[in-house]
Amino acid sequence: MTFEQAREVLEANGQGHVLRFWQQLDAAARRALLAQVEAIDFAEVARMRRLLASGASAAHVTPRPAPVVSASRRVRDEAFAAGEEQLRKGRVAVLLVAGGQGSRLGFEGPKGAYGIGPVSGRPLFYFHARKIVRLTRLYGRPVPFYIMTSEANDAATRACFEAHGYFGLNPADVIFFKQGVWPALDAEGLLLLEEPGRIFVSPDGHGGTLTALAKNGCLDDMAARGIRSVFFFQVDNPLVDIADPAFVGLHVLCGADLSLKLCRKCSPTEKMGAVSILDNGRYGMIEYSELTPKQAARFKYGSPAIHVFSLAFLKREARKAMPLHLAHKKIAYVAQDGRRVKPDAPNGYKFEKFIFDVLPDAKTVVNLAFDRAEEFAPVKNAVGEDSPATCRMALEAKWRRWLAAAGIAVPETVPLEIDPAYANGAKELKANGLLLGAE
Ligand code: UTP
Repeated sequence: MTFEQAREVLEANGQGHVLRFWQQLDAAARRALLAQVEAIDFAEVARMRRLLASGASAAHVTPRPAPVVSASRRVRDEAFAAGEEQLRKGRVAVLLVAGGQGSRLGFEGPKGAYGIGPVSGRPLFYFHARKIVRLTRLYGRPVPFYIMTSEANDAATRACFEAHGYFGLNPADVIFFKQGVWPALDAEGLLLLEEPGRIFVSPDGHGGTLTALAKNGCLDDMAARGIRSVFFFQVDNPLVDIADPAFVGLHVLCGADLSLKLCRKCSPTEKMGAVSILDNGRYGMIEYSELTPKQAARFKYGSPAIHVFSLAFLKREARKAMPLHLAHKKIAYVAQDGRRVKPDAPNGYKFEKFIFDVLPDAKTVVNLAFDRAEEFAPVKNAVGEDSPATCRMALEAKWRRWLAAAGIAVPETVPLEIDPAYANGAKELKANGLLLGAE
C-alpha cells in the first residue's frame, strides 16, 4: 500500500489523523504503518463505530436453562463406539485456543508453557499433546492438532514445542496459526496511536478463532485431511478429555452442528457461561456477568468451553460477522500534539468476539453433562481458587482414583503423575501392564 492509498482509505473512513506524524517517521516506521493500515478491516471498524454510537449492549434475553443430557450407559457405549470409528477413519481434529494473555496467572510466556506437572513440572502443553499421542497410537491415524497463538506468544509457543520434540507428536500434524488483532477506538470512534507511527491494536478475542482459521487456510487444510469433527478446548485445563470418543460419537450420531460439555457449577454464582433457550427456541450462551444472582442460581450447569464443532458448521460461521463485545479500558496513546498520555481512567474501547456467539446459529446442539472432578480444573489465578495448586490437586486425585481402581492404593502424601500417552483410565493402566509391580 502506498502513502496515497493509505491516506485515501483513512480519510474515507474518518481516520485521517493516523498519518498526522508521517513527516517525523523514518522509512522503516513508515513501511510498518502502511502495513498496519493495509491490514485493518475497515468494514469491521465501521461495525465497531456503530456499536459505540448506539451504546447498545447484548440483546436482552430472558434466561431459561437449556436441557442437559446425561447419557445412559447404553447410549454412552454406542456413542463411544461411533467416536472411535471417527478417530479410526481420521475424521477428528483438535483445536486449542492458546492466544490469551494469561494476565491473572501473571506468568511470563504462553500459559501453555506453564509447568503444571505435580512431579515433573512439565508444561500444560505436554498434558494436551501427550493425549493426542495416545489417540494417534490407539487409532492408527493422525489427529491434527491446530493451536491458535497470538502475535505476542506465537514464537514462544513454537519454541516450547520444538524444545520438547513436539512432545512426541509428528510436527507435520501440529499446526500453529495466529489469532488476529484489530484496533481500539476512543470515545469519538477514532483509532488510537500508541506510537507516532503505530496504531494501537489488541487481540480480537477467542471468537477470532473462526476468522483466523479461515484466513490461515486451516479450514481448507482440515477438509483436505478428511476431517469432519473438531474438538475445541482451552489451554488452561490439563484434565480435559481430548477428543473423548463418547462426546465426539454423540455429536456425530445426533448430526449436531455444535456440542457442548457442561458441568455442575460449584456455587450458583460460579463464573461460568450459561446455556439458555432463546425466544426463537435456539440456544445461546449468556455470560455470568450478564445474569443477576437470582437468574444465575437457576442455571445448575456451566460451560467450561469444551466443544465439538462439525467442520461444515465452522465453515459456514467463518463467513459470517460475529457480534462484537466492547470493554472500556485504559489505553496509553499519543495525543494530537505528540504528548504521550497514560490515562488513569478508561479512555478507549477494546472490542472482542466470543466463540460461543455462534451457538444460536447451530440447528442441532448436544449439551452433555460430564463429571467435573474427572475433566475440569482450570489454571486461571496465581493463588486461591482455580490456581496451579488446586489444579495439581485435582490431577493427582484423578490419577489416584485410577490407580485405586486398578488395585493400587497410593497415599495422598505421595506425589503422583501419569503420562497421558500411557493411559486414560484405570482399565488402560491395568491393560498396559501397570507399573509399580501391581501383580
Ligand atoms: P481466558 O478468558 O481465561 O483468558 O481465556 P486468558 O488470557 O487465558 O487469561 P486472563 O483472563 O488474561 O487471566 C480462555 C481461553 O481462551 C484463550 C486463552 O488462551 C484460553 O485458552 N484466548 C483468550 C485466546 O485464545 N484468545 C483471546 O484473545 C482470549
